[in-house]
Amino acid sequence: MTRPGVALAEWYARHGRHELPWRASRDRWAVLVSEVMLQQTQVARVLDAWPAFMARFPDVATTAAAPPADVIVAWGRLGYPRRARALWTTATTVARTGWPADLRSLPGVGRYTAAAVAAQVDDADVVGVEVNIRRVCERVAGRRLRDREAEAVAVEVAEPLSGRDRLLALMDLGATLCTARAPDCARCPLVRRCAARGPLPGGTRARQARYEGSFRQARGRVLARLRAGDAPVHELDRAALDSLVADGLAQVTGPVAHLPTGGGTAPRAARR
Ligand code: ADE
Repeated sequence: MTRPGVALAEWYARHGRHELPWRASRDRWAVLVSEVMLQQTQVARVLDAWPAFMARFPDVATTAAAPPADVIVAWGRLGYPRRARALWTTATTVARTGWPADLRSLPGVGRYTAAAVAAQVDDADVVGVEVNIRRVCERVAGRRLRDREAEAVAVEVAEPLSGRDRLLALMDLGATLCTARAPDCARCPLVRRCAARGPLPGGTRARQARYEGSFRQARGRVLARLRAGDAPVHELDRAALDSLVADGLAQVTGPVAHLPTGGGTAPRAARR
């Protein structure tokens, strides 16, 4: 009987999303930017944003030499702009002291992102669990799993795959076959090893909060205005502006609000 991991490897070779542009890079900065973009934004939108951002900020030195305002402008309308500010902070840190051994010391980099970068860039034998990999592992196990449990299931079910191929094979399986609502179990290489063979009871996890009418939308409006140029403070939603200032995404000089021109105050720890 073919081992599930061997069947997964064959499936991935034929059906993996090898054409995603960031998959062609083994550069730590380029892969980190892609993972940070993909944390909260769908692949279809990152397909346009990542190449444009990389053209403007191809490496750490270029990014660190620019004011944070330029990075925030290049982030465009991807949303959750704290990510742009965090990337600029990362670039300045790495330009000064090099890449840290543990990427989780960088702002906005958690357990998954650190593992995903190490696996893709260095083929490190670590597995990160994002939403697609979690779905696959939980269905295989037939129950909800903690991060470490899901990582152990991923290692076990994908063996002999490791490192980069294991991460991307499980991710692509979750994104294209083992989908949230309509899994295609008939074509799944893991079906014989799978306890659930379909969605687990209890439904899917929480979706992103509604944008329309939200504080996030108010912040987005103010930031869009500042991207177009400096603006009088009295014309802006004050609460939204204050929160952008607290996150290092805006500055106020006298009566005028503008994008941050220098290091400024450190933003509070990047929220996800
Ligand atoms: N390729 C590498 N990492 C990815 C991610 N987080 N989402 C989609 N494709 C990816």
